[in-house]
Amino acid sequence: MTGGHWGHHERKPDVSYDSVADPRAILAECAGAAGLSPGMAAFPRTGTLAQRFQANPFLMAPMAGVSDAAYRLMARAGGAALAYTEMVSVAGLHYGGEKTWELVEPWDPEPDIAVQLFGSKPEQFREAASLVASRLRERLALLDVNMACPVPKVTRKGEGSALLDEPDRAADIVRSCLAGLRGAGSDVPVTVKIRAARRTGDAEVAPEFARAMADAGATAVAVHGRTASQLYRGEADWGCVERVVQAVDVPVIGSGDVRGPAEAVRMMEQTGCSAVMVARGTYGNPWAFADARRLCAGLEPLEHGLRQRLAAFACHVRLLDATHAHLARARSLAAWYFKGVPGAAAIRDRAMHCQTVTEYLELADELLGRIG
Ligand SMILES: Cc1cc2nc3c(=O)[nH]c(=O)nc-3n(C[C@H](O)[C@H](O)[C@H](O)COP(=O)(O)O)c2cc1C
Repeated sequence: MTGGHWGHHERKPDVSYDSVADPRAILAECAGAAGLSPGMAAFPRTGTLAQRFQANPFLMAPMAGVSDAAYRLMARAGGAALAYTEMVSVAGLHYGGEKTWELVEPWDPEPDIAVQLFGSKPEQFREAASLVASRLRERLALLDVNMACPVPKVTRKGEGSALLDEPDRAADIVRSCLAGLRGAGSDVPVTVKIRAARRTGDAEVAPEFARAMADAGATAVAVHGRTASQLYRGEADWGCVERVVQAVDVPVIGSGDVRGPAEAVRMMEQTGCSAVMVARGTYGNPWAFADARRLCAGLEPLEHGLRQRLAAFACHVRLLDATHAHLARARSLAAWYFKGVPGAAAIRDRAMHCQTVTEYLELADELLGRIG
């Protein structure tokens, strides 16, 4: 689909695409033009979790279907202190599929990873925690339990946000994770991710529930200030994050409506939370983390012009390929990175028809040619 597009630019695509390139080499090659940092700091391993968040409190949130290895590499290269896996089924790990393990393994040069588990059976959590710790060793930075997912397929089985209705079982799960880690010789933090409540109109459960999880041994609590029945719609209630901060002694990680660096910093100031998860605010914006840190340091966030966005898109697509992801994910990436590009609708439409990495890269290169 590309050949005919080049003639009138008198410019051949400068796409020297090497499908065997590894992510480290890709990042080393692309980082400059994409405004990213190819070197990634490991998440600090010593001190309390609150102390570890101090240097950099901006985390890439877990997102099923999104936060794959390429996405996490972009986030870490964009300054995230840590990036979470998509939620991973403890039953899936129990039944031992290599496909499930692919979700858990950090991908070099990702220095370490936060693994998020979901399920309902404490015994399966104990086993999963032990297996993950044994397999990842020092590359496991943190283990998080999903008590927030609102999807009926998940909650029907008593998993995800259904656990908000079962604090005793949830506490058991936290203890089981700690036991599993201990058995594998690991002392990484166990955290939980919760929502304000299950249903809109219900009394807010998050503060009391968070206290129960901290009492069971959770080292931190992440709070998404929406009810599960809100799914991802409506406004997130940062007041809920603040009430959890006031209810517990452990660090709180805030989530919800962190649309960019300014909101990330504002959420910390408003709620007193110790760290922030950036979720949809990272769509087409891997720089959100470094920019938030600049804001904290009293500096202006950097401008990310079209040239840089196109370079970041190309880098991301190459990373998708190098990490064996399904290339269909590049379609959403095109929509996100090309937002605001002149003629964006037509370009996104073309991106929908790209079949190969080369086609995506040629499309980005053509757009680059247009801006001269
Ligand atoms: C596509 C998508 C997938 C998500 N998957 C997960 C998940 O696997 N585990 C989880 O704890 N939260 C998941 N979330 C929730 C986010 O981590 C975050 O808490 C939520 O989107 C609120 O932040 P935002 O309003 O800034 O996007 C997901 C969100 C989206 C949009």
